[in-house]
Amino acid sequence: MNNFEFKNPTKIIFGKDTIEKLETEIPKDAKVLLLYGGGSIKKNGIYDQVKTALAKVEVIEFGGIPANPEYSTLMDALKVIKDENITYLLAVGGGSVIDGTKFLSAAALYEGDTPWDILTQNIRTEKGMPFGTVLTLPATGSEMNSGAVITRAETKEKLAMGGPGLFPEFSILDPQVINSIPERQLANGLTDAFTHVLEQYMTYPIEALLQDRFAESILQTIIEVAPKVLKDPTDYKAASNFMWSCTMALNGLIQKGVPGDWAVHAMGHELTAMFGIDHARTLAVIAPSHYKFNFEAKKEKLAQYAERVWNITEGSIDDKAYAAIQKTKAFFHELGIDTKLSDYTKDYEGTAETIAKRFTERKWMGLGEHQSLSPDMVEKIVKMAY
Ligand code: NZQ
Ligand code: ZN
Repeated sequence: MNNFEFKNPTKIIFGKDTIEKLETEIPKDAKVLLLYGGGSIKKNGIYDQVKTALAKVEVIEFGGIPANPEYSTLMDALKVIKDENITYLLAVGGGSVIDGTKFLSAAALYEGDTPWDILTQNIRTEKGMPFGTVLTLPATGSEMNSGAVITRAETKEKLAMGGPGLFPEFSILDPQVINSIPERQLANGLTDAFTHVLEQYMTYPIEALLQDRFAESILQTIIEVAPKVLKDPTDYKAASNFMWSCTMALNGLIQKGVPGDWAVHAMGHELTAMFGIDHARTLAVIAPSHYKFNFEAKKEKLAQYAERVWNITEGSIDDKAYAAIQKTKAFFHELGIDTKLSDYTKDYEGTAETIAKRFTERKWMGLGEHQSLSPDMVEKIVKMAY
């Protein structure tokens, strides 16, 4: 096992009717900016619950943060933060609203001229404006981690940022919020969380027995609850297990002491930036090709995953590893998620070359757990995913 340090300061408040606890989490003297997305919270009752809980503090609102949070919209919110002397941010939404809020938390205290530099120059945020979240969509794990991904339509870029200053102070997870989530977004959440585990697991054996079993148990739980969640989002047992699995998939715990890959996300983000494809769906497009292309390097873990998660016990390591890739693809299909780029766009010619060129320009010369996945390999993987 590799050496590691682990600190996750986010307080989780989990369960039915917990949104009312906002009242005790936000400092009484705070001036709060309540941030939300396209307005789903106004239809499903979450907005009313939040407003009731915030009755005793001063609140200003900023709605309209789009899916794949857009830099220019966030710059409008930053102006509100400065003009109104906001002291506390509250994100009410899914990964996009939470990530947008993390960007604002960093940008509010950033001393440089152009906050976009935080993303392009990999500036770690050691201290941000304090913020909390009310999660409305289980998927990204953003509610309990310190990362964010921001999109800039003008340049068709989608870049990551983070730092120890960007953990939420608290996150409220009421699984009942999934009642109103459309099937497409539920499938996205299941796929995103599943792939988060794969990115931290599908590398090479390192004798981290507990981390492997944490990862496998999250995968098994997602597989078990997925059909129930899709069939009936009001099934609280399924909803609560789904929600907690998504958080645990990316709160740092399973990543500790083990190698990580994250190349699937790096390639996937480009597909969202170029074509606007939902984040989770880009992962389902790239992952099968990535595992096929890197078969030799990853086959031992693929075979372990085959045995422990999919109960494939027959055949050689190669047979099991190959079957595991097929099973993963079939699982995505069962969720209603297509796994080829051509299923999403007819305009895919040249995509692989563009992504390889962008990675070269950004000097991303070696991705993956061995830092050896070069842009020409990326080009091949994306082509395999057409
Ligand atoms: O905008 P509103 O009206 O809120 O509607 C949203 C949006 O249209 C809707 N929704 C959310 N909760 C709902 C609901 N509709 C009905 N009822 C509810 N309770 O769902 C749509 C998608 O929301 P979004 O926040 O975009 O989805 P998700 O949580 O999947 O977040 C995706 C973003 O997170 C980033 C992605 O790249 C993408 O930009 N990621 C963030 C990560 C992180 N910070 O750790 C890791 C991930 O790998 C990912 O990259
Ligand atoms: Zn993801």
